[in-house]
Amino acid sequence: MKISLLGGTGDIAEGLVLRWSQAGHEIYIGSRSEEKAQGIAAEYIEKLKELGIEPKIHGMENAQAAKHSEVIIISIPPEYAASTIKACADNITDQIVVTPVVSMKKEGKTFLFDPPSQGSSAAEINEVLPSTAKLVSAYHNLPATGLAKIDEELDYDVVICGDDEDAKAVVTKLTEEMKNLRVLDAGPLDVSPMIEAITPLIVSLNIRLKKHFSIKFV
Ligand SMILES: NC(=O)c1ccc[n+]([C@@H]2O[C@H](COP(=O)([O-])OP(=O)(O)OC[C@H]3O[C@@H](n4cnc5c(N)ncnc54)[C@H](OP(=O)(O)O)[C@@H]3O)[C@@H](O)[C@H]2O)c1
Repeated sequence: MKISLLGGTGDIAEGLVLRWSQAGHEIYIGSRSEEKAQGIAAEYIEKLKELGIEPKIHGMENAQAAKHSEVIIISIPPEYAASTIKACADNITDQIVVTPVVSMKKEGKTFLFDPPSQGSSAAEINEVLPSTAKLVSAYHNLPATGLAKIDEELDYDVVICGDDEDAKAVVTKLTEEMKNLRVLDAGPLDVSPMIEAITPLIVSLNIRLKKHFSIKFV
């Protein structure tokens, strides 16, 4: 598939770019700066070639990246996600859009869920997307560092939600191409606040207990 990552130069995007390249997908890394996107694309291409993989990765500005793709990942900090989508509005039509966005605040060593007034970052993002786009909430609880180590098998669950069953099926397939990740479909987009709220709990536990937890339902 053709997959674009807005803010694809950042932390959570790295593992997704590397692992989906490994699975043979064509990747469009988006950025506010074409030059930065091309630099990161070159870095990932080199890394993958060393592993014997011939990737198809392109770097460009966010709006161009969105235009090229069938699936768009919003890998942008929460406070800039909606404005970035608005800036790409002309190139977002009926694509599948995936949000891993979580809004948190830090109090001492503890992270707390700090959702926007809409109740979740997914709801905030849904407000600015055209009604033809299909939003899926996913990947909030995955650690960027583990994801980027592509030889590591991630024995985690990925809880997703969204209102479009076909879009969730595509995201499930893409996710389960990353070895050992299991998708659990939790239902409609309204579930997203509960999924997003797990992330600050995981981050706080990791800080307190010096662990690298994600989640697994057994
Ligand atoms: N990191 C994790 O472990 C993790 C896990 C699960 C979910 N998430 C979620 O994934 C999203 C991305 O997280 P991240 O850790 O990858 O973030 P990040 O590395 O801090 O930032 C990602 C990219 O966002 C772009 N960006 C920064 N400031 C911006 C602005 N003012 N306007 C537009 N774009 C801007 C930058 O790209 P350019 O400079 O190239 O434009 C940057 O590389 C967040 O919403 C986070 O909640 C993160």
